Amino acid sequence: MTLRGAVRGMKEVLGVEELWRIYPMGDSQVKALRGVSLSIFEGEMVAITGPSGSGKTTLLNCISTLDSYDRGSVRFEGVDISTIGEAERTRLRGHKMGFIFQQYHLLPVLTAIENVELPLLLMGVPHKEARQSALDTLKLMGLKSRANHRPSELSGGQQQRVAIARAIVHEPRVLFADEPTGNLDSVTSGSILAALEELNRAKGLTIILVTHDEGVSSRCGRILSLADGCLVGQEEE
Ligand SMILES: Nc1ncnc2c1ncn2[C@@H]1O[C@H](COP(=O)(O)OP(=O)(O)OP(=O)(O)O)[C@@H](O)[C@H]1O
Ligand SMILES: [Mg+2]
Repeated sequence: MTLRGAVRGMKEVLGVEELWRIYPMGDSQVKALRGVSLSIFEGEMVAITGPSGSGKTTLLNCISTLDSYDRGSVRFEGVDISTIGEAERTRLRGHKMGFIFQQYHLLPVLTAIENVELPLLLMGVPHKEARQSALDTLKLMGLKSRANHRPSELSGGQQQRVAIARAIVHEPRVLFADEPTGNLDSVTSGSILAALEELNRAKGLTIILVTHDEGVSSRCGRILSLADGCLVGQEEE
C-alpha cells in the first residue's frame, strides 16, 4: 500500500524497519513486536490500535527511545537512534519529543504550573521565561484559573490537560500519547481530543496516540492496527 504522505512528498519524521522486541520470561520469551515497519510523516495525527497485549505500548516506547529493541531500526528525523549515545537520546527526548501517559504522572507536590514549567527548567530555560511559557500553555488548555492547584485538587480531565500542557510546553516535534483519554468520560475525552486536534492543525505537531476508543481513532488521519506484535492494517481516513 502506498501512503498518502509519501506520495505528497511530506517529510518523514519517524521510520521504523522490521522492529522486534522480545521480552525474556524465565525459560521462554514473549515476542511483543514481530517485524513492524512503518513511516510517520510531519504533521500527521496517527492512531495505534489493537487488542490488549498486541504490542501498542511496546511499539510506542521503542519508537520514542523509552525502551530498547532487539532487532530492526528506528530513524528519528533521519537519524538511526541506535547510533547515538544515551546522553544524546536524553537530549532528543527532552527537546523534540513530548509524552502523555495514561496515568498522567504529574508530580503530586508541585502545582499545575510547576509541573508544566519543569521540562523547561530541565532544559535550562530561565525561570521567569519558563513560568510565562507554562502559564501560556495552561491558558491554551483552558486551565489558567487552576495554575496554582496541586494535582489532587484537580479533576481527572483537568489533570490530563495539565499533563498535555507539560508535554507540549517545550514545543516538541512529535507528541507520543498512550491512551490519553483512557480514564476519562466521553465528554471530557472529546475535549481532550479537540485540544490535540487543535495542536495538530494549528502548530503542525505530529501526534502518535495509542487508543482503544474507535471514537478517538476515527478522528485521526491514519489508523495503524496491531495484532499479536504485527502491523495488520494502515487505514487512512
Ligand atoms: N516487561 C515485560 N516483560 C515481559 N512481557 C512483557 C513486558 N511488557 C509487556 N509484555 C508483554 O508484551 C505484550 C505486549 O504488551 P504491551 O504492553 O505492548 O500491550 P498493549 O497492546 O499496550 O496492551 P494494553 O492495551 O493492555 O495496554 C503482552 O503480551 C505483554 O504481556
Ligand atoms: Mg498498553
